[in-house]
Amino acid sequence: MKVLFASSEVWPLLKTGGLADVSYSLPHALYEEGTDIRLVMPAYRKVLESIESFSIAGWLTIELAGKSHNIRVLSITHPEFSIPVWLIDDQHLFDREGNPYSHPDGYEWPDSAERFTIFAKAVSQLAMDALNIGWKAEVVHSNDWQTGLVSAFLEEETERPRRVFTIHNMAYGGYFSHDEFRHLQLPAQWWSANGVEFYGNFSMLKAGIVYSDAVTTVSPTYAKEICTPEFGCGLEAVLRHRQYKLSGILNGIDTNAWNPSSDSLIPYHFSEKRRNPGKRKNKKALLEAFGAHVDEKKLNAPLLGLVSRLVEQKGVDMVLEVIPQILANTDATFVLKGSGHGFFENRLRQLAAAYPEHVFISIGYDEAEAHLVEAGSDIFLMPSRFEPCGLNQLYSLAYGTLPIVHRTGGLADTVMDAYMEDGETLNPEANGFVFTPPTTEALYQSIEKALDLYAQKTHWNHLQRNAMNGDYGWTVSAQAYLDIYKNSPNHY
Ligand code: ADP
Ligand code: GLC
Repeated sequence: MKVLFASSEVWPLLKTGGLADVSYSLPHALYEEGTDIRLVMPAYRKVLESIESFSIAGWLTIELAGKSHNIRVLSITHPEFSIPVWLIDDQHLFDREGNPYSHPDGYEWPDSAERFTIFAKAVSQLAMDALNIGWKAEVVHSNDWQTGLVSAFLEEETERPRRVFTIHNMAYGGYFSHDEFRHLQLPAQWWSANGVEFYGNFSMLKAGIVYSDAVTTVSPTYAKEICTPEFGCGLEAVLRHRQYKLSGILNGIDTNAWNPSSDSLIPYHFSEKRRNPGKRKNKKALLEAFGAHVDEKKLNAPLLGLVSRLVEQKGVDMVLEVIPQILANTDATFVLKGSGHGFFENRLRQLAAAYPEHVFISIGYDEAEAHLVEAGSDIFLMPSRFEPCGLNQLYSLAYGTLPIVHRTGGLADTVMDAYMEDGETLNPEANGFVFTPPTTEALYQSIEKALDLYAQKTHWNHLQRNAMNGDYGWTVSAQAYLDIYKNSPNHY
């Protein structure tokens, strides 16, 4: 089966979050299952700088707003990829400093409506074999708002492939104004409540939901949550009316890149059977890397880690509030790694200055440090207010670093609390700590429970074994996608 997989981010070429990890690992898992799959993403400057070589696969002419854009399609060679990767190369749109969505100074690119409309149109043409290479997609799998218009453009084609759209996060709707819609001269028939229109603006995410034959999101619980006002970001009714084509498929992880027994980014390897010496050495390395003075006392004290985009979603404010409370009566240490809103970055700096022996931070994006935090911490904090799936709790489980999570989305589907409903009996199947509601108080209580069990090595070992023995790979979920590729009707 020929599948074109479109995403704005693909690890290791360009990553701002979990979308990039999934856009690498899922297509590879599908390839392992025998799928003839190709990836397509924009040729961002960072991507062009990181590839060893490329060839020109062909040219596309994209007509938009009375202008013709001549776009190069590059085919890259990269040691990490077993599958073909195409880049949509338009210097004017994608070859810039900064990240895909914003200028280095932090403001959003003002022309993203045009950039991702052209990208989407290019993807739809590639799917229809516009390069004339004898490869026409049977399925186009688009991801998040940046690719939402792919399905809308394919609506115009009679012999079109099946259109599958995955929502990784409802909070990013790809909203643009009506003026922008007119300026881009997008098809007038799209402008309706059953099309892309959303309260007087237009939404590329909504386009993906409306015009795709199947819509998936990245966990079963989030698939239910987004049909409610609390999580639907205004699109809950649109989703509720389309529940017949909506499903939740849990993300897997790349078990080569995120595997404590072979991870090339951590100094000491370990496995479920032989975890303690390796984890302890990584703990020491992590503390030292973050500038701590390490002695036996420090190594024995619980170490709580966090790796996160520093945004409202992730509940970073709760972590900032809870740390002084925890430090008032324990000897815990915290290592916090993240980047995002300047407000949170500054508060992290203030906290580290206030507790120089117990709070260590690293602001910025660094893949190797993220792996070290997962490997060296005892406990991982992930109190997200909402979490479509979440990958960090899965990495934590695989590394025997017990996660503390809020019961929501994919966190609820993957972490099982140490205690049964009564709050007293230990759950023999547990692999972490789950709290609700998303308040500092509930987080505090969950951390207290975790620290209590940390001191009881038999229980802790049992939880760690459960966590590390879990299967977090793609096998089951890749089959679920294949089922949708094969069996969903190719009209919505
Ligand atoms: P989201 O996509 O919402 O950010 P996920 O848990 O799905 O959440 O994925 C986050 C991914 O980004 C993980 O691979 C995590 O390790 C990585 N990540 C987040 N922040 C950083 C950072 N500052 N440095 C390195 N990696 C980070
Ligand atoms: C989004 C979500 C995250 C999910 C990731 C990959 O960034 O916030 O929960 O794991 O996409 O699907």
